[in-house]
Amino acid sequence: MQNKFLIEAFQTPEEVSSTLLPYFAKLSEDPYVDSNVRFRSYARFTLNDRGEITRLPHQSFMQSSDVNRVVGDVERHFAPMDDDMVALPEFVHLLRSFASATGLDHASGDIDVHQIRVTCSAQDTSAPAPEGIHQDGFRFVGIFCVQRQNIAGGFTQIYTSPVEQHPHLNTVLEPNQFVILDDQRYYHHISETLSSEAGEEGVRDVFVFTA
Ligand SMILES: [Fe+2]
Repeated sequence: MQNKFLIEAFQTPEEVSSTLLPYFAKLSEDPYVDSNVRFRSYARFTLNDRGEITRLPHQSFMQSSDVNRVVGDVERHFAPMDDDMVALPEFVHLLRSFASATGLDHASGDIDVHQIRVTCSAQDTSAPAPEGIHQDGFRFVGIFCVQRQNIAGGFTQIYTSPVEQHPHLNTVLEPNQFVILDDQRYYHHISETLSSEAGEEGVRDVFVFTA
């Protein structure tokens, strides 16, 4: 991705979200932040220079407090991602799309993937990014939307600095839309969500890729 672009956004085939959606209902609670509205799993993959993708052994996840002011320097143990889901061609398509957009498919490297569901009600907002405007501490970050059900808010916002008043990009990621950005150049944030339907739960499902 060097010298190629800083932000790339594209659409995947329709069946990617619909095929992967049922696996979000099986997620475990995230015990570290807002556990009653946040559910997640985690997996790591490695890509060799022949473009072959292999899943790496499960391990805990930690970010520095330099980039995560809420749960930085905390060793977090997330549930492993569903084995059947990661074997699906639709999931492999997402990994390959991320590798290709970032140029990893011509090199070798590791890709971390987080599967995250955030729910909300019509009364109480939920924060998909409790750490605020932030970087993830990687070279590249990708966000892929699987579902937005009854969601008001939840804007994907890209900033050039953490203290900027107005985002460089402020958009709603719809299902099957993938945005990939240079994590060293940009900061990102997802605005709070609220259910748009009284009495109905709002649900936002995404995969986050980092490399
Ligand atoms: Fe992030």
